[in-house]
Amino acid sequence: MQVVNAKPKVGSTVTIERDDFLSGKYAAEIQRLLVERSALVFPAMHLTDAEQLQFARTIGKVFLVGGDQELQNISMDPTVNRTADYTRGAFYWHIDGANDVIPAKATMLSVRTMPEQGTGGDTLVANTYAAYADLPEAEKQAIDKLRIRHALEASQRYINPDPTVAELTRWRQHPSRSHPLVWHHRHGGTSLILGNTCHYVEDMSREDGDMLLCRLQEWATQDEYVYRHVWSEGDFLIFDNTGTMHRADWYPLDSKRLMRRTTLHGEEPVG
Ligand SMILES: [Fe+2]
Repeated sequence: MQVVNAKPKVGSTVTIERDDFLSGKYAAEIQRLLVERSALVFPAMHLTDAEQLQFARTIGKVFLVGGDQELQNISMDPTVNRTADYTRGAFYWHIDGANDVIPAKATMLSVRTMPEQGTGGDTLVANTYAAYADLPEAEKQAIDKLRIRHALEASQRYINPDPTVAELTRWRQHPSRSHPLVWHHRHGGTSLILGNTCHYVEDMSREDGDMLLCRLQEWATQDEYVYRHVWSEGDFLIFDNTGTMHRADWYPLDSKRLMRRTTLHGEEPVG
């Protein structure tokens, strides 16, 4: 297995024999790399659904979206993605499953239909371990005990800032979740939980809380922490959902861009 880093603090390209990839020979190494590098690209893999699942099971437990889907279509086309409306929230920095008790461990994407050339559609991943590590000590202490309320309402307001009462009511039927802002992981690393699901900072005025979130988000998405994946045919991308934020770069809503996504069950509550 060969690993080439994209940037000093984030992103690597991994070249691996197909049999080794599917058998889990390097599963432990890949999981370690995933935490260390945030995003791993396996170029030109052209995985089938069965192969994607086979690999996924070597590094974790597959999360069933909607109770029964091991793979989902990620597209803005409602004929192939019935939650395309919600998917538009992915244009903004976020964590998958931030409203869940235990956020997903990792997310993986295979490109099936490339974004049309020159129309955007890159995938960006920001390493919040590195962003946290580089914060001044005083700031680390100041934010250490803060908690954030995450809600679907917050992420949906980015794409629908003027909801109807029916829409707002529907959003609020999804449970919101309180998480620490700073995640001290069992393996010793520390990351930030930010993104478009952040509704407000608990026990802080909205003015101060919104400014804090804005500042940290800006800090964590500086160029040195962000890997931008420009898709090529057959690419397979994994990111560590517990120590990153990610987003899709803008692309037209009528684009045929299609990803097959698999999500891995979280293994550690936020603590
Ligand atoms: Fe996502």
